[in-house]
Amino acid sequence: MARKLSTRKRPARELKPIRSRMKISNKVFDDQTMTVLHYFLSNKRITSLDFPIAQGKEAMVFRATTPTGYAAVKIFKYETASFRKRMQYVQGDPRFKVPKGLRSAVRTWARKEFANLSLCIRHGVRSPRPIAFKENVVIMEWLGVGGIPSASLKDVWMDDPQRMLNELLEDVKKMREAGLVHADLSEYNIVVHENHPYLLDVGQSVLLSHEGSEGFFLKDVRNILKFFKRRGVKMTEEDALNFVRGA
Ligand SMILES: Nc1ncnc2c1ncn2[C@@H]1O[C@H](COP(=O)(O)OP(=O)(O)O)[C@@H](O)[C@H]1O
Ligand SMILES: [Mg+2]
Repeated sequence: MARKLSTRKRPARELKPIRSRMKISNKVFDDQTMTVLHYFLSNKRITSLDFPIAQGKEAMVFRATTPTGYAAVKIFKYETASFRKRMQYVQGDPRFKVPKGLRSAVRTWARKEFANLSLCIRHGVRSPRPIAFKENVVIMEWLGVGGIPSASLKDVWMDDPQRMLNELLEDVKKMREAGLVHADLSEYNIVVHENHPYLLDVGQSVLLSHEGSEGFFLKDVRNILKFFKRRGVKMTEEDALNFVRGA
């Protein structure tokens, strides 16, 4: 789960004080990651890495400037505490070899996030369009208003939560049609962009053929319903599941 660095989203000119105050973790910018960032800077995928947006256990997300606007850059940390926990999401997925060793595992998370984002986009799920990846770094479409990142579902006030829930279930359904189960769906991994929900953080998403997929799927739907219940929207689990499964 990502920890917000600031509840108020800051524009670029306030960057400098943030940087000096934050002491950006050395763990993210190890030599290999610097080489990858240099690669993306020299091929002009990005022109600068601007500031951190979120810090999680496994990854940090930054805003970057590109020749045409902005992008989100997700850097998976090699020094991750949740190595073992994440392995279960890769095992049994025929798209990926089970990685040997920590570095190769972390690169597989990044590759998997990129592959899953591509699948989502191809099936019309609202999620950030993947742009590029290399080793432990994924570059994706920027979801923001100008340079300010769009807010997470947990932080937004919704004028029509019922419509938001319907759109979300529509996306969960499309994701299922893409053959994927999100497996970490909650108000923390949904961003409200241009008044629509966008699904993020699909690195751990599994194929329907994964042995745990049905359990993950139930948990995803329950998380969403629980959140919307607190926002005054009631839908039975049965109705939601029937809708998503297309019954
Ligand atoms: N493409 C994006 N555009 C704008 N903000 C993003 C984007 N991707 C991620 N974020 C922000 O970064 C946070 C963490 O991203 P996420 O993919 O969930 O990483 P983690 O694995 O650390 O939880 C999100 O909750 C969101 O606020
Ligand atoms: Mg997340």
